[in-house]
Amino acid sequence: MDQRIISNIPEEYHVAEDIPVTEPERQAFFLERIHTYVEQNRAEGRSLRYAIVTFGCQMNAYDSERMKGLLEQMGYEEAPEEEADLVIFNTCTVRENANQRLYGHLGQLKPLKQQNRNMIIGICGCMMQQPEIVAYIRKSFSFVDILFGTYNLHRLPELLYVRLYEEKHAIEILPEPKEHVEIKGAKRKFPFKSGVNIMYGCNNFCTYCIVPYVRGRERSRTPEDILKDVRSLAEDGVREIMLLGQNVNSYGTNFMEPSEIIAANPEYSFPELLEDVCQLPGIDRVRFMTSHPKDLSDRLIQVIQRNPKICRHIHLPMQSGSTEVLRKMNRRYTKEQYLALVERIRASLPDISLTTDIMVGFPGETEEDFQDTLDVVRKAEFDQAYTFIYSRRTGTPAAEWEQVPDDVVKDRFNRLLEVVNEIAHRRCGRFEGTTAEVLAEEQNAQDPGLLTGRMGNNLLVHFPGDPSQIGTMVQVSLTKAHGFYYTGEPVKV
Ligand code: 5AD
Ligand code: SF4
Repeated sequence: MDQRIISNIPEEYHVAEDIPVTEPERQAFFLERIHTYVEQNRAEGRSLRYAIVTFGCQMNAYDSERMKGLLEQMGYEEAPEEEADLVIFNTCTVRENANQRLYGHLGQLKPLKQQNRNMIIGICGCMMQQPEIVAYIRKSFSFVDILFGTYNLHRLPELLYVRLYEEKHAIEILPEPKEHVEIKGAKRKFPFKSGVNIMYGCNNFCTYCIVPYVRGRERSRTPEDILKDVRSLAEDGVREIMLLGQNVNSYGTNFMEPSEIIAANPEYSFPELLEDVCQLPGIDRVRFMTSHPKDLSDRLIQVIQRNPKICRHIHLPMQSGSTEVLRKMNRRYTKEQYLALVERIRASLPDISLTTDIMVGFPGETEEDFQDTLDVVRKAEFDQAYTFIYSRRTGTPAAEWEQVPDDVVKDRFNRLLEVVNEIAHRRCGRFEGTTAEVLAEEQNAQDPGLLTGRMGNNLLVHFPGDPSQIGTMVQVSLTKAHGFYYTGEPVKV
């Protein structure tokens, strides 16, 4: 893959005397400049508004919360996409339909941008790490103002500055991470829960997957940094933490900075980190995402077992049930190993919810391979499975291999969905009649007398309550299962 640096930030910005050369001072400098600009506009009766449209995974959702934090520190206010002066698309490229959705949005914004010449459109995230896509966007959507990638989110204020003051496109895409600057002060969708990145990138190179090419090599944050973040989130009212990484079970193979904790205990890895996070005061729930089956250790299972704060939910992408397909995918486990792992997890954690990702139509997949996938689905009894049609990603090995015809793939996809849904529906019902601890998240959209919350295993529950309970844990008796959610009654304690 072409690894060019694309940057048109004028040289004078890199060398001008009063601009700090190092981060985070440089970011603070531009943040202040934009803040002044936004305040000037406000004084003239015009408040500037932004929208961030997010595609893709939890990592992107969390990156968007941090960009929102930056924009609000600069004085921007959130607005719907069609009304915003600044629209940023945080993109995903894991499947082709994510790319198509971006092009759809850009097509819709074009006439709005023609009417409002002050409107600024930016695109960041995984799609921008693919040079051929950047070239296509620059050609076909030349009205887009700002482009940046996955390694330089923190430079949003400077890119905005270049666009506003130079009145030209601001494009900066780095082929690999240069420096790491954490963005402080995310604007969280829910004040009481937050993601925390524990690592970036992926080293696994599954043969269908674009992620290692657009998110780079695996690098872990130090336990010190992570624990500091969680502590300050807890002080800010966060009750539930989601530890994020493409493969959290290989946490600790390559640290970004020196760490005293690691120096004292070189064996320190994900289970230790989980235990340390659970001990922080104020944190009631800890989740993590995503686990690669090849790296999920018995030690991790034991740590979950003895820590009630760790949610009873493991997302364990299986991708395929066929050992031959798994080999071609470079997943490094067999059908039997996956099933044995599921058995070990269920034996130690009977109340666990197991969810998974499954792909159909990987190059060379036969009907027999597909039957193996159905077999694992039936045996593993997933509580929920996210099903995908294989999508050819340019630059990955599998894109070059012989593809399965579309009609065959669609037929398999429908058959898979039927089995998956039937099992998930049945599994959801198994907690009926029990009492669960539910984190109340929001007022129910249809019925304001109800609150909607989540159980530790991630199932939704609707129950009578008032908004003052939002952000607290409520004991709820699960009266009725409705397939993928529950209705219940709060239990008086
Ligand atoms: N096509 C279809 N699905 C994919 N995924 C990753 N790459 C592809 C692809 N090329 C799925 C995997 C992964 C989830 C996040 O997306 O199932 O676990
Ligand atoms: Fe992609 Fe495989 Fe890495 Fe997951 S583990 S991000 S599927 S390469």
